[in-house]
Amino acid sequence: MVVNEIRPLLEFDRVSRSFVTAGRTVTAVKEVSFSVERGQVLALLGPNGAGKTTCIKMAATLLVQSSGDVRVDGIDAANDPYEARKLLGLVLGGERGFYLRASALDNLNFFAELQGVRGARRNVAIREALERVGLADRATDRVETYSRGMRQRLHIARAIVAKPRVLLLDEPSIGLDPVSARELRELVTDLRDSGVAIVLTTHYMHEAEALADTITVIDRGAVIVEGDASAVAHAAGIGPISSARLARVDERLRARLLQLPEVMGVTYDSRGGTATIDVRWADTPNHSALNEVLQHEHLIGAVFDRRATLEESYLALVGANDAA
Ligand SMILES: Nc1ncnc2c1ncn2[C@@H]1O[C@H](COP(=O)(O)OP(=O)(O)OP(=O)(O)O)[C@@H](O)[C@H]1O
Ligand SMILES: [Mg+2]
Repeated sequence: MVVNEIRPLLEFDRVSRSFVTAGRTVTAVKEVSFSVERGQVLALLGPNGAGKTTCIKMAATLLVQSSGDVRVDGIDAANDPYEARKLLGLVLGGERGFYLRASALDNLNFFAELQGVRGARRNVAIREALERVGLADRATDRVETYSRGMRQRLHIARAIVAKPRVLLLDEPSIGLDPVSARELRELVTDLRDSGVAIVLTTHYMHEAEALADTITVIDRGAVIVEGDASAVAHAAGIGPISSARLARVDERLRARLLQLPEVMGVTYDSRGGTATIDVRWADTPNHSALNEVLQHEHLIGAVFDRRATLEESYLALVGANDAA
């Protein structure tokens, strides 16, 4: 009998991690659970200090958890870090992590060797990785001559050179110019489509929105939402949004709209001579009440409804959580 069991490529099962600094114990990660399947991107979101990098480091076997289990394709990362590492690619970013006086090629040769990529296969893999991140023409230059964004791209090349099954990306687009950031999104999508399981941390909500199949939001070490963008909206209490363009918007209009019973929030943005107003509803938009207020205003075009963006939901959620 064939057992067709699909097991996650990366699994966190009630993982906690504490640090002791100056005699004080800080629990950076509290009972965090998530799993990432083959061909799936999980975005790990949360404010500065939430515990994202600590989670990435535990997944990468650079840190051992205080309790709970971390499994990489079923391998216990704490008990068998060497086996787990063979399946992992990691981008922690930053300026460090390379031999600055050596070329990108020499650096990648060294790291590929460490990851067990040998023989003729290695040259091909390195060439492919450098081409993928647009550094092929600078391959023989010393890393110390690289710009910050080029170093970040080299980090990405290093992470993919051994063709990992699980890719851990901690703020991978930091320092990248807009074109490189878009190329990174394409790379992540291609790797995902080829079956790699990916965990991505980012502070760019549009990046998470574009790439994530599932989203886990952590705050002060604990998971506060898991699901997709609509789960974040739901947790934040954000319903649909009615948007309208007006000749002008002022505080008086905002105050009137806020008085409508079903309205949760009103924001506006004036530029270029006109203004856009967003009315956030608790649940179903009340168009007749909205039109009654807006009929006295200089409305340009029609009112349309849209779902909250991930950024709007995230800001409402984490802002509210911070105030608690
Ligand atoms: N080595 C360490 N020793 C002591 N405390 C640590 C250590 N590493 C992390 N922490 C603490 O753990 C908490 C989580 O840090 P972490 O770096 O995981 O946050 P983060 O979500 O990645 O934040 P950011 O968005 O700023 O990168 C913070 O309070 C941090 O000070
Ligand atoms: Mg971090």
